[in-house]
Amino acid sequence: MKLVEFLCLLCCMSLSLLISTSQAQTPTDPSEVRALTSIFEQWGISYVTLLDGNPCIGAAVDTTDIENRDFNPGIKCNCSLTNGTCHITQLKVYALNVRGVLPEELRSLTFLTYLKLHQNFLTGPLPAFLGNLSALQTLSVSINALSGPIPPQLGGLRNLRILSFGSNNFSGSLPPELGSLVNLEQMYIDSAGVGGQIPRTFVNLVNMQVLWASNNPFTGSIPDFIGNWTKLTSLRLQGNSFQGPIPSSYSSLTSLIDLRISDLTDVGSSLEFLRDIKNLTVLTLRNNLLSGTIPSNIGEYQQLQRLDFSFNNLVGQIPGPLFNLSSLSYLFLGNNSLSGIIPPEKLSSLLTVDLSYNRLSGSLPSWVAQRNLSLSVVANSLTFDSSNNSVLASGINCIQRNFPCNRGSPRYFSFAINCGGPQKTSTDGTVFEAENSTLGPASYYVQDDRWAVSNIGVFGESFGAPYIQNNLAQASDTLDPELFETARVSPGSLRYFGLGLENGIYNVNLQFSETDQDEGGRTWQRLGRRVFDIYLQGNREIKDFNIRNAAGGAVNRAVQRDFKVQVSENFLEIHLFWAGKGTCCIPVQGFYGPSISAIRVTPDFPPMGSKKNRTGMIVGITLSIGLLSIICAFIILYLRRKRSSGNEEEELLGIDNRLNIFSYAELRTATGDFNSTNKLGEGGFGPVYKGILSDGREVAVKKLLVTSHQGKSQFVAEISTISAVQHRNLVKLYGCCIEGSSRLLVYEYHKNKSLDQVLFGKNALHLDWPTRYSICLGAARGLAYLHEESKPRIIHRDVKASNILLDIELNPKISDFGLAKLYDDKKTHISTRIAGTM
Ligand SMILES: *[C@@H]1O[C@H](CO)[C@@H](O)[C@H](O)[C@H]1NC(C)=O
Ligand SMILES: *[C@@H]1O[C@H](CO)[C@@H](O)[C@H](O)[C@H]1NC(C)=O
Ligand SMILES: *[C@@H]1O[C@H](CO)[C@@H](O)[C@H](O)[C@H]1NC(C)=O
Ligand SMILES: *[C@@H]1O[C@H](CO)[C@@H](O)[C@H](O)[C@H]1NC(C)=O
Ligand SMILES: *[C@@H]1O[C@H](CO)[C@@H](O)[C@H](O)[C@H]1NC(C)=O
Ligand SMILES: *[C@@H]1O[C@H](CO)[C@@H](O)[C@H](O)[C@H]1NC(C)=O
Ligand SMILES: *[C@@H]1O[C@H](CO)[C@@H](O)[C@H](O)[C@H]1NC(C)=O
Ligand SMILES: *[C@@H]1O[C@H](CO)[C@@H](O)[C@H](O)[C@H]1NC(C)=O
Ligand SMILES: *[C@@H]1O[C@H](CO)[C@@H](O)[C@H](O)[C@H]1NC(C)=O
Ligand SMILES: *[C@@H]1O[C@H](CO)[C@@H](O)[C@H](O)[C@H]1NC(C)=O
Ligand SMILES: *[C@@H]1O[C@H](CO)[C@@H](O)[C@H](O)[C@H]1NC(C)=O
Repeated sequence: MKLVEFLCLLCCMSLSLLISTSQAQTPTDPSEVRALTSIFEQWGISYVTLLDGNPCIGAAVDTTDIENRDFNPGIKCNCSLTNGTCHITQLKVYALNVRGVLPEELRSLTFLTYLKLHQNFLTGPLPAFLGNLSALQTLSVSINALSGPIPPQLGGLRNLRILSFGSNNFSGSLPPELGSLVNLEQMYIDSAGVGGQIPRTFVNLVNMQVLWASNNPFTGSIPDFIGNWTKLTSLRLQGNSFQGPIPSSYSSLTSLIDLRISDLTDVGSSLEFLRDIKNLTVLTLRNNLLSGTIPSNIGEYQQLQRLDFSFNNLVGQIPGPLFNLSSLSYLFLGNNSLSGIIPPEKLSSLLTVDLSYNRLSGSLPSWVAQRNLSLSVVANSLTFDSSNNSVLASGINCIQRNFPCNRGSPRYFSFAINCGGPQKTSTDGTVFEAENSTLGPASYYVQDDRWAVSNIGVFGESFGAPYIQNNLAQASDTLDPELFETARVSPGSLRYFGLGLENGIYNVNLQFSETDQDEGGRTWQRLGRRVFDIYLQGNREIKDFNIRNAAGGAVNRAVQRDFKVQVSENFLEIHLFWAGKGTCCIPVQGFYGPSISAIRVTPDFPPMGSKKNRTGMIVGITLSIGLLSIICAFIILYLRRKRSSGNEEEELLGIDNRLNIFSYAELRTATGDFNSTNKLGEGGFGPVYKGILSDGREVAVKKLLVTSHQGKSQFVAEISTISAVQHRNLVKLYGCCIEGSSRLLVYEYHKNKSLDQVLFGKNALHLDWPTRYSICLGAARGLAYLHEESKPRIIHRDVKASNILLDIELNPKISDFGLAKLYDDKKTHISTRIAGTM
């Protein structure tokens, strides 16, 4: 005998000693023993107490709750039902990943009151003979792979109190016979696969306390007879295909504690029915075409912990008492038409406030400064001053209504983001920027006024869930598996914004991958379904997107979706939206809603300056228009110059009011009074110093020599061109200083200095050939951009190793461009005059 078996036996023997003697002596009904033995054999599970042919020895004793972990698989017997025989009354096989069907032999267990087989991988139909197990009070087969229709025979289970068959792959509709289950108190049928209308016979189920029936293809009007179930405490109908409105009969459901109705279509509802349902702790009425105002008596809902009215058409002001509810922690009001101001007072226990996409105006109340507050005011019409900006995450002014940043002065043609992760460079050289900031249930992040991300929503019952999935197994079928190491996930609404894009048609490439949730194989952990909708520019492009289905059922496989979208107001919105579909909690709580790994946005129009293959006529027209505008520009410049001399600051501000204007004193402090120890080098137009601004930012300050022969006009030219030209391989201009005769430029600072210093300097780095190659390639990209794509085009004319800076990751950045004369469209590229220094 093996040691394990011996120990088992010992353990079982000691257990049976604890069991009442009467039970131990009474034999179990032999037909039930045969059935149980056969069932466990088919399911490949062992049950040690079958040892002496009496399973009721070692079964849960009368006083033990079979839910206890020690009894799995477990049975419970009753030895006083018939004289001289024990009968199996309870059977539990929970989360053991049992495979197979529901065997015929179950038919013999006629004394069962409790049958719980959830979280396995059972297949095949729900057999009709279950309807003959008339003693059943609890029947649960949730989270399996059962299919076929729900047998009408289940209507025979008159003693049934709990019925649970959610998260399966059933089909057809609910049989009207189930309306006979008048003792039913709890019904869990989310994600079951059943559709059609809910039969009217269900009006009789007036003892119902809990109904969870989300994510099924139910059609027709949301049933009004549920209003007769006045004992209901919990009702969930999300992600079905019901039509509104919410029936007025629901106003009788005053016992409700948890009410979640979402995604009703066609006809709107008002919140009138809520009037007397005041014991609610969770109230979710999301995406239901709700209209009207927030009830004025909302202050009486003192038990409310979570309130979600988002994605509706509510109007009017936010009632002050709403922010004064003693239990409220989560409040979602986004995507309505609420107006007026944000209430000036808020209890500090309210920690999540979503006010995004409304028409709120005025300034921010002082409570926005509260620590740990998750507040989204994206896409409203609020006014901010500088003190407000320090309170909110920066860039919020960029993502107010109409997304004003750079509107009318677009600067960008593309962006790429590694969602949820650090910066990655793909094999084709595209830099996918880091997008790994910590987001909360109502928050956003703005990157350099170029792009932004916004998250709204809190994961079902697991409030602490993070909004990033890390350390995912990499997608193996792609050139860039690292892009799939992380994903940004959201339980509600995940938006990405492109800001300041040139107008035109863009290619939007979205990359997804579903993760492996277990070691593989046919397990209940695989039964989860993630489903969400994809909107671009407000239009729903894909409904019910399921990453795993799109990958042919596979996990860890890259799935890409490409779209062409029109950018007409310098603004792009990618919106991933959870419409209540999919499973909620498989394999873990909170496994649902949008998930995305990477985004790439590129122009579909030819980059500026490479229109060579157009017809002669177009070239001619373009050229003459070009010439004309250049002449116009010169005339305007000339006139301006004549009119105003000495107010260059105004001119600078006119060019770009985003440009930072530094004071001379500030820069003198930053550079230690232009101390020679801070000197980084000497360029053609003056020395460059390293500086540290008061906010801790490191910068490079170029002090232009007043004697530099092009002086002021050169300075103006540099400002106007460099501020408009941005590329990852070009040094970024932060701002400038113009005070008296001093002219200074403030650039981003690069620790690794310039290429010549890296190659030949005192502390030369060792660069391997792949790095050298990537530096060459990057520099070439920067140059190509300057020469071909930037607006205006700039010919560098002073390319040399000392003008190529390297950032911390050894990405090359070209500097000193724009110091040379602007490239003049009329002239040829061929010019041998060197503009800068040798
Ligand atoms: C066993 O059955 C008898 C008779 O129906 C009942 O009174 C008793 O409560 C049952 N015992 C258990 C533990 O269910
Ligand atoms: C069991 O037997 C006793 C005496 O023989 C009898 O009084 C009782 O009714 C029987 N009970 C059942 C459930 O058959
Ligand atoms: C259920 O029991 C009845 C009466 O004993 C029998 O006629 C019927 O065939 C059974 N149904 C199933 C599906 O086994
Ligand atoms: C669910 O059932 C349908 C047929 O009704 C079938 O096409 C599909 O493959 C099944 N899905 C799973 C996950 O078993
Ligand atoms: C359901 O309730 C309505 C009133 O709300 C009542 O008229 C109707 O008779 C009830 N139906 C049943 C079957 O009890
Ligand atoms: C609401 O809750 C209170 C306190 O728990 C309870 O007394 C009251 O009966 C409840 N109201 C309804 C309609 O269930
Ligand atoms: C908030 O509640 C407190 C007490 O519950 C009350 O004194 C105060 O007036 C309320 N404020 C608002 C704005 O409703
Ligand atoms: C949000 O609100 C806008 C405007 O009311 C509406 O067009 C849009 O469909 C809503 N829903 C989503 C998912 O964006
Ligand atoms: C925001 O700015 C307004 C107007 O200047 C001011 O009244 C308000 O107190 C500021 N709020 C915060 C939180 O600084
Ligand atoms: C903020 O949250 C952290 C962690 O959840 C907690 O330790 C801290 O006390 C909170 N601070 C405030 C001001 O609520
Ligand atoms: C983002 O990623 C970078 C690089 O891995 C890391 O240094 C930084 O701490 C991350 N930020 C957050 C908020 O996790």
